[in-house]
Amino acid sequence: MTDANVAAVVIMAAGQGVRMKSARAKVLHEVAGRSMIAHAIKAANALAPDRLVVVVGHQREQVRKHLDQIAPHALVAVQEQQLGTGDAVRSGLAALPDVSGEVVVTSGDVPLLEGETLRRLVADHRQAGSAVTVLTAIVPDATGYGRIIREDGEVAAIVEHRDADQAQREIGEINSGIYVFDSELLRDGLAALTSVNTQGELYLTDVIAFARQRGLRVGAHVLADYLQVEGVNNRIELAARNAELNRRILRGWMFEGVTVVDPDTTWIHAGVDLAADVTLKPGTSLEGATSVAAGAVIGPDTTLIDVEVAESAEVVRTHAVLAVIGAGASVGPFSYLRPGTQVGEGAKIGAFVEAKNAQVGPGAKVPHLTYCGDAVIGEGANIGAGTIFANYDGVVKSVTHVGANTFVGSDSVLVAPLNIADGSYVAAGSVITRDVGAGELAVARGQQRNITGWVDRRRAGTATQKSANDVAQTRDNTDGEDQE
Ligand code: UD1
Ligand code: CA
Repeated sequence: MTDANVAAVVIMAAGQGVRMKSARAKVLHEVAGRSMIAHAIKAANALAPDRLVVVVGHQREQVRKHLDQIAPHALVAVQEQQLGTGDAVRSGLAALPDVSGEVVVTSGDVPLLEGETLRRLVADHRQAGSAVTVLTAIVPDATGYGRIIREDGEVAAIVEHRDADQAQREIGEINSGIYVFDSELLRDGLAALTSVNTQGELYLTDVIAFARQRGLRVGAHVLADYLQVEGVNNRIELAARNAELNRRILRGWMFEGVTVVDPDTTWIHAGVDLAADVTLKPGTSLEGATSVAAGAVIGPDTTLIDVEVAESAEVVRTHAVLAVIGAGASVGPFSYLRPGTQVGEGAKIGAFVEAKNAQVGPGAKVPHLTYCGDAVIGEGANIGAGTIFANYDGVVKSVTHVGANTFVGSDSVLVAPLNIADGSYVAAGSVITRDVGAGELAVARGQQRNITGWVDRRRAGTATQKSANDVAQTRDNTDGEDQE
């Protein structure tokens, strides 16, 4: 148990999110590469709650499936009809019949909320000995929010924007929709709710006035960093929250010693891990569980999704998914690394190379214009420009092995399954279908024939024939001079 441990956290996530205009549940939309509900759960986990309840309603099967994956420990409570936030928490408490102690209530659509903020809220609540503490903030535009009504400085009630009179609408202190309640007060307060308001809903916020009437202490914890509690109701707000969280993530990494050349065009997901002295150039997007080690330089214009980059590697104008890039390796420009690609230490993948399920040995080079699928390439091998690893016969995919220090000439086709031994050569332009032994040169192409006089006979009157004749003339003249 940590010092901030609470009995339960209830996350409200049953609302429809009509303004998202989406077939996807609102809380499943992503911010910095994680669903909003995953952000909410991460913040809740900072309180080490004995129990975590997510209240679902609209598109509940989608949300439930996602929760099974990301938070199997969470209890899922169903709110059948979205009758308001008070009803949502009633549904949540139905999953916690015997809960006693502190219950934190938060929302599934405030992705920037930090766990540390919840810890401070709970600490403040305890220190003041309150029965309920509301997380509030003073915002530049309070339109739409519930306003905090204070009497003699104490919180007396929360009035919803739509129910507020003109004077109340002038109030800049808003309800974030995040609270810590004493469970007994919460239960009694919820039981007493009525829907006598402009929206005909059961307002959780009415529990505040209820507590006051009972003579219980109501606290407010004012959060200076109000951007943390901004929610998401439409795609514009989704983009704004995503941009803000990205700025915060970038700032965090810059404090840790990462150089970000252009923060405006650099995107880093929440699950990414970076070392000090990584450099990120403009247009870089690091996604999923990507990690980058010290001294590596990424970008410009590079997207890495679940990619591991080792020390001092360079990755330029590249799109890579589920790949591993070794120390000091060089990738790009214009490379496409697909799942299962492992670029060895000091190896090179160059321009217009696509690799899939390919192990490129230490110091090996695949510098230009190659498709490299299902390949195992040995240390120090050199794959010539335009080489194709033909891994697919239309039915099955097979592997090609290219041995250590082997040299594959340009424009070769290596037809898998194939073993090209260590220390061998493949002549340029070959179509290799049989294994090649160590020390051998494999040549598999038509013999060259040069047919004398062909242009004269078949291309008479063309510029080509004229050029050919000019060459012949010069030769004759030179021959003449020689004879003098
Ligand atoms: C609520 C607060 C308001 C506060 C604002 C902060 C009430 C009455 N008002 O207003 O004071 O300033 O949040 O954003 O509580 N939900 C359910 N079931 C429902 C209704 C809502 O699960 O029946 C969930 C929503 O999915 C959302 C959260 O509760 O996650 C808040 O609901 P929302 O409709 O956005 O509340 P507001 O009207 O914005
Ligand atoms: Ca809202």
